[in-house]
Amino acid sequence: MPEPVRTAVFPVAGLGTRFLPATKAVPKEMLPVVDRPLIQYAVDEAREAGIEHFVFVTGRNKSVIEDHFDIQIELEATLRERGKKAELAKLEADRPPPGATTFTRQQLPAGLGHAVWCARAIVGNQPFAVLLPDMLMQSAPGCLAQMMNAYHQVGGNLVSVSECEPDQTDQYGIVALGDAVGPAFRITGMVEKPKPADAPSNLYINGRYIFQPELFVHLDRHERGAGGEIQLTDAMLRLSETQPIMAVRYDGRTFDCGSKAGFLAANFAYALKRPDIADDLRAELKKLLATNGA
Ligand code: UTP
Repeated sequence: MPEPVRTAVFPVAGLGTRFLPATKAVPKEMLPVVDRPLIQYAVDEAREAGIEHFVFVTGRNKSVIEDHFDIQIELEATLRERGKKAELAKLEADRPPPGATTFTRQQLPAGLGHAVWCARAIVGNQPFAVLLPDMLMQSAPGCLAQMMNAYHQVGGNLVSVSECEPDQTDQYGIVALGDAVGPAFRITGMVEKPKPADAPSNLYINGRYIFQPELFVHLDRHERGAGGEIQLTDAMLRLSETQPIMAVRYDGRTFDCGSKAGFLAANFAYALKRPDIADDLRAELKKLLATNGA
């Protein structure tokens, strides 16, 4: 049996420039899809997969993320006074247990690899998961639970992959897959944001990872890659020289909520699955499409 994965790292220190000015004072990870912030979906997905320790790599202006996972004494007292039991129960269910969260800061947004490296002392010498909260995964079981299922069989390092439109490969880390190993596949190539003509496939790394702690050895080098940032992909390429990294084909829908179109699509997709608002939304959409052209 591989060593269990109990800790997940959530890098949330990015500047969210694609969503300015919305993200000037509000972190991108707190933008709501229907009525839950993006970070809540990622934490829920991790809890469902058996994660017990939630490590957030935050930055300046991100303290509301810490507040979100704390008890809001006044709010909860008021809800209790007003007999709002369902709302109270929801808040309680969304909260990781006391002591299960740790927050550290990436002092400068020097890249995703650097953000993960900032969690090294907290993670220590154990396997861990990484979840990018702006990638929203809609499936049952969740994406990380699907990966854990594979991890229990094959161990090692795993990434989850989804299919993108062939003309969108230049937005993602693209992999080429080889032979199946149980429920996973060997990765035979990994390229960051290739032009469609150079892409080895349309399978992209969708923001869910399980790593062995040796990843930190490579992140320790602080090598600057694309855009002058310390890239996670570069450390993964180095790690793959000594340890296999395998891919799990994710069965579900992926919404890239770092892009405006993906974020809006996620809102519609999640709202249309909510019995309390789906009918009203459908009626509004019909009206909109009728007046703006389909
Ligand atoms: P993105 O590149 O999608 O986020 O990083 P960003 O940089 O905030 O967004 P744009 O491109 O400027 O609009 C993916 C994830 O990695 C985190 C982000 O917070 C996001 O959750 N990240 C990125 C960090 O924590 N630190 C970094 O230096 C870069």
